[in-house]
Amino acid sequence: MRKGILTIAAVGLLTTGGLTACGDDSGDKAASTKTPKIGVILPDSKSSARWETADRRFLEEAFKAANVKYDIQNAQNDKTAFQTIADQMITGGVTALMIVNLDSGTGKAVLDKAKSQGVATIDYDRLTLGGSAQYYVSFDNETVGKLQGEGLSKCLTEKGAKNPVVSYLNGSPTDNNATLFKAGYDSVLKPKFDANEYVKGPEDAVPAWDNAQAATIFEQQLTKANGKIDGVLAANDGLGNAAISILKKNKLNGKVPVTGQDASTEGLQNILAGDQCMTVYKAVREEAKAASDLAIALAKGEKKDTGQTVKDGDRDVPSVLLTPKAIYKDNVKDVIADGYVTKEEVCTGAYAKLCADAGIS
Ligand code: BGC
Repeated sequence: MRKGILTIAAVGLLTTGGLTACGDDSGDKAASTKTPKIGVILPDSKSSARWETADRRFLEEAFKAANVKYDIQNAQNDKTAFQTIADQMITGGVTALMIVNLDSGTGKAVLDKAKSQGVATIDYDRLTLGGSAQYYVSFDNETVGKLQGEGLSKCLTEKGAKNPVVSYLNGSPTDNNATLFKAGYDSVLKPKFDANEYVKGPEDAVPAWDNAQAATIFEQQLTKANGKIDGVLAANDGLGNAAISILKKNKLNGKVPVTGQDASTEGLQNILAGDQCMTVYKAVREEAKAASDLAIALAKGEKKDTGQTVKDGDRDVPSVLLTPKAIYKDNVKDVIADGYVTKEEVCTGAYAKLCADAGIS
């Protein structure tokens, strides 16, 4: 019954010719004659807890609420597996495919193939450079980086640091978001380096956001700087935690502010303990909802206007960019109130008292 209604509605739209998306309606036509089904490929489960604990959960929530068929899989940082999953999803009849690419090259191959088979496509969280996704749904990632730069600067001031040496642990060199985060924090910190207010310490990009490798890299940074690093701009909570583990080994945790991103349970606990300066909260529920609304519309052969585009070379990609929020000790409670993580998860064991102190009731 449901299928029948959707098919008729979509065909009706088709005959009115109102479906042309980006001057190419091949994807829409094929989507409109099939039962809507949305495929999602997540990147891994180690670079950040979010993909499994937040994105999967909130995407499922949105798809279930819309009563649409879906298949969510995780490529576990394996580019070959990523392409195999995509092929299986396309063969399995998905009408829309959402990907979080592992790099732009393999992402593009998947998107182009989906497009050639009439499957609608969305870049979820990470933009595939040179790709062909019909939409891009993410946060304002340069603002994420700006909040990190401002956060580190605020914490350094609070510590009374004089001409602090700041090291960088950037995200994966193959993730366009990492480039945007860096542009954001550079916009705050570079003027301070240039004015000799801060001293630029070692800088490294962490391949695939690998948390274990980040610890090794940070240990090398600390050695290179003769133990004198006064602040760490870490691009997400996993990299921040890696730096904190090395600072702990050197009895420097709590003295050296470290940034993060994702408001992970571990990151929030590090903030409550005073080992991490701040994190950036991105309301993944909203990101998942926005992406799922678009995917459902596309899967039905409809087109939505997002009112905003992002440039990828010469291409204007219709986009939804949500607003990130900086989290310090005093507003960790907002992340819990938003249902992103639970009090039970964050306030375990020794954190119970720290939670109470931070007004988490
Ligand atoms: C996401 C971050 C995440 C990182 C590692 C980025 O593309 O925007 O939220 O921490 O990837 O998975």
